[in-house]
Amino acid sequence: MKKRVLTGDRPTGKLHLGHYAGSLQNRLKVQATCEQFIMIADLQALTDHFEQPALVRDSVLEVAKDYIAIGLESTVFLQSQIPALSELTMFYMNLVTMGRLERNPTVKAELKQKAFGDSVPAGFFCYPVSQAADITAFQAELVPVGEDQLPMIEQTNEIVRKFQRLYGVGALKECSAMLSETGRLVGIDGKAKASKSLGNAIFLADSAKEIKQKVQRMYTDPGHVHVEDPGCVEGNVVFAYLDVFFADKVELASMKERYRRGGFSDGVLKALLTETLQHFLGPIREKRESLVDRDVLERVLTGSMVARKVADATLLAVKEAMCLNYGSSV
Ligand code: TRP
Repeated sequence: MKKRVLTGDRPTGKLHLGHYAGSLQNRLKVQATCEQFIMIADLQALTDHFEQPALVRDSVLEVAKDYIAIGLESTVFLQSQIPALSELTMFYMNLVTMGRLERNPTVKAELKQKAFGDSVPAGFFCYPVSQAADITAFQAELVPVGEDQLPMIEQTNEIVRKFQRLYGVGALKECSAMLSETGRLVGIDGKAKASKSLGNAIFLADSAKEIKQKVQRMYTDPGHVHVEDPGCVEGNVVFAYLDVFFADKVELASMKERYRRGGFSDGVLKALLTETLQHFLGPIREKRESLVDRDVLERVLTGSMVARKVADATLLAVKEAMCLNYGSSV
């Protein structure tokens, strides 16, 4: 039996190179050997974008196009099309405490960034529970995600263990994260994370001109003023991107060496990254532009029908374990 994989993204905009380095790359890697489900998490997106439903709806299509354009062939589906996920969330809500939710480091960081103040939406606060439903509904063993999602995996497994203690071990499985080897991609401004909300990301759909301009704006080493000055590779954004996207690692190591010694200009370095990214993103952009909206939506809805069957089977087992089976279909 192939390993089950479940992962997903919130549709709040297009996907960028941070997504690629963090998890899309791994999804491409496992798709041939695993049974992979990829969820467009529109309900989770609404937990912090409930005032912009049209943005979420439009982004569903954008994210789906990104998936197809990079060559993902797995089952792609829409969270809101799978009612079992909402039911499971309701059941799991009893298995977590307010205190545990408050301690989730990712939610904590997001709350700080979003400045909800005293008006934290309950749905947002509880989204790790719904994410546990997403993962367990598919009996996923592997979850390819960026490292910021580790607390979600941990919380999911806590819920699974509590469920098993209370209701038996048959219905649910624990899972593991699959982290990228390259780690988190920094923003073009050198900030710890490339993110849409920080405005420091290169999108998979960016035009050749946008790519060029964004590489131009990248931080290198502020101490590297003259070409002949020795340059610093650590913390240098251009090298951070080359580490992920430049295939010839031997050549890259020798360039780093030359940059450190001095005599390697930032202009040449940036030209090399621009060329590397154009080469990588050009075909993705072309493929993306060739896609027809209706066909893309069709694929997501067909995928949702497949996903629904799998999630319903888990829901049935969970209801049985919780003495909620009354003999009707689910
Ligand atoms: N929280 C993820 C993000 O912000 C999206 C997501 C929702 C997810 N449900 C998931 C990821 C289940 C992995 C597994 O991008």
